[in-house]
Amino acid sequence: MMTANHQRDVAVLVLAAGQGTRMNSQVSKVMHQLGNRPMIDHVLSLAVELNPAHIIVVVGSEMNDVAEAVNSNFGKVRTIEQREQLGTGHAVLTAQDMLSNFSGDVLVLYADTPLIERGTLERLLDARREDAAIAVLGFRSPVPGAYGRLIVGEGSNLESIVESCNADPDQLAIDYCNSGVMVIDGTILFNLLEKVGNDNAKGEYYLTDIVSLARQGGARCIALECDEEEALGINSRSELSRAEAIYQDKLREQAMAAGATLIDPQTVYMSFDTQLGRDITVGPNVIFGPGVEVGDNVTIKAFCHLEQAHVATGATIGPFARLRAGAEIGEQTHIGNFVEIKKAVVEQGAKVNHLTYIGDAFVGAHANVGAGTVTCNYDGFEKHHTYIGKGAFIGSNNSLVAPVKVGDGAYTGSGSVISSDVEPDALALERLRQKDIKGWAARFRKRHHNKKT
Ligand code: UD1
Ligand code: CA
Repeated sequence: MMTANHQRDVAVLVLAAGQGTRMNSQVSKVMHQLGNRPMIDHVLSLAVELNPAHIIVVVGSEMNDVAEAVNSNFGKVRTIEQREQLGTGHAVLTAQDMLSNFSGDVLVLYADTPLIERGTLERLLDARREDAAIAVLGFRSPVPGAYGRLIVGEGSNLESIVESCNADPDQLAIDYCNSGVMVIDGTILFNLLEKVGNDNAKGEYYLTDIVSLARQGGARCIALECDEEEALGINSRSELSRAEAIYQDKLREQAMAAGATLIDPQTVYMSFDTQLGRDITVGPNVIFGPGVEVGDNVTIKAFCHLEQAHVATGATIGPFARLRAGAEIGEQTHIGNFVEIKKAVVEQGAKVNHLTYIGDAFVGAHANVGAGTVTCNYDGFEKHHTYIGKGAFIGSNNSLVAPVKVGDGAYTGSGSVISSDVEPDALALERLRQKDIKGWAARFRKRHHNKKT
């Protein structure tokens, strides 16, 4: 197993400068998301976990979105610009100056290969250290397509990597593919790269050529196998959707292993940071956007949508509830159907059960908010706050015109438009007194009946 000492001798290079033409997008390829997180962030957070001496991202010159995202989310990561995209070998060369005093292992990751797992990288680093100058991560695929092919010779030596566009039919029939991930002895990497030419089908400097060059120099190279799913390289939106499906399955398995019951896992979508507690039950068709934390013993019924929301122990949500940014849902609360909650605290035991919008608000413990209540929080310019005290009872179909306060234990009558503060324990009624007109309906019907005949 790897030790912390070893990790200090690793430099991680993340290649992210490729144009990603096949995405057909204004957004850099590596900023497209898996589980609501840019694919490059998946790769970088993995790199950070390895605790290496250097993490360097090679970005293209028009990629301000990538550089900004990297710099703001990953403090110790540095970026370097590759002005022209002349190939993966050329991309690695751009980092040469940054690694001039470095003699450890260089781990190359592709930002478009975000499903790689930490254990796999550790195995690859170990394998390189044991007895090889270069260790390449490969995988078997029934449809090797455009991947480079690994040519393995005697004694399981890796002899070369052949790009599919340069491969002959025999080589194309090989199902052992290059994931792109490799570990190279840092003392020889740049010497090898200087010898790489661009006399090939694409006119590019291929990183993959360093394998045959190392072999020519008598060095040993090896290939290590991982799952095809882990090595999936994303070049198009179709491949992005396949990667998303694989990633979602992984998140579902993790949630279930951690004690969540997913009644129909394939219909539950999660984000990279979704945190689900133990003994929670999630019904079909529930979507967890980013930033959701759910405590133990929570029930989330079918068709709920949550993002940037916290739900405390024992709450019941849905069906058909929407929790938006800043929803803080307390213990043992009930949030029912067709209820939307945004930037609001709902304290312990409160009930908001039917057809309601609660935005920019506080709902005190054990308050009951009646069906069809709306916090009128926006005047077209600013947002205003609604306060509902603990134990308050908001009648059905109320409009609470913010800023407004309903005191602890107060009642508001059904159908009221509450626009000024209500004292604790008072009843606020805001509607006309009911007026009955005797016999009116019978006369009305008769009139219409006479017209017809
Ligand atoms: C590459 C490999 C191929 C492998 C496949 C795995 C080479 C020559 N080929 O092919 O053997 O099977 O990945 O997915 O390495 N990049 C740069 N600068 C460049 C060119 C690319 O930073 O000038 C980056 C890209 O952003 C991407 C990665 O390198 O993250 C791979 O580039 P890409 O063009 O996608 O290579 P493939 O054709 O997929
Ligand atoms: Ca690729």
